[in-house]
Amino acid sequence: MAEAAHLRLGVNIDHVATLRNARGGAGPDPVRAALLSQNAGADGITLHLREDRRHIRDSDVDAVMAAVKIPVNLEMAATAEMQRIALAHRPHAVCLVPERREERTTEGGLNVTDDNSRLRDYIAPLRAAGSRVSLFIAPDETQVEAAARVGAQVIELHVGAYAEYCAEGNDAARDAELRRLFAAAALGKELGLEIHAGHGLDFVNVGPIAAIPEVVELNIGHFLIGEAVFVGLEAAIREMRRQMNLARM
Ligand code: PXP
Repeated sequence: MAEAAHLRLGVNIDHVATLRNARGGAGPDPVRAALLSQNAGADGITLHLREDRRHIRDSDVDAVMAAVKIPVNLEMAATAEMQRIALAHRPHAVCLVPERREERTTEGGLNVTDDNSRLRDYIAPLRAAGSRVSLFIAPDETQVEAAARVGAQVIELHVGAYAEYCAEGNDAARDAELRRLFAAAALGKELGLEIHAGHGLDFVNVGPIAAIPEVVELNIGHFLIGEAVFVGLEAAIREMRRQMNLARM
């Protein structure tokens, strides 16, 4: 079997901004978190600029992009405002996610099949500006095929359902979801897409996802920032890296 490609770790620092915003001051500073993540071996920094700016703000995107040397992945809803911001910043990657104001986090994947022609027109200028465009989708064959059709270069598979089954101890549902993830990753690669995964990953559940050979990047946020409260951000990232490497061996 061919050796699996290096597995990149993108650290999502949104929740450092959540903490900062809780008090309305300048700290904790997301730029400091981005630099610490870079130091600890993160391969990229992920920021979700939500329409309601509940955590990351426009000025954070500027500041983080200016501060780090590793690639920045800007998560955003496929709105005209966000497209303007992405075109002005030209981040390494743009990951399009569905967004509802009342949700606490990104709850589901994009419905690419229902939004075909609009997404094709939306993606083209982002690609022309030099960003790699990723779609955050459920591990569903029709969504993977639609993502390839609308011109995405990358898909990020939503592993939230898998993570929930792990937390519930529902082994049968977890294994069925893992099979869907393996199949979606294989199909995506066959269609020429780069495969990422994310949502709800932690030290315990990351192994089986890191072991999917087609997956080349994981984006992890909430757990790492929570763990950082106890062990520090660099230690949390290094341990995640170790777990990912173990699974990849
Ligand atoms: N990837 C995408 C596309 C996301 O929307 C999120 C959540 O913002 C993550 C990864 C990270 O998820 P978590 O914070 O649960 O690790």
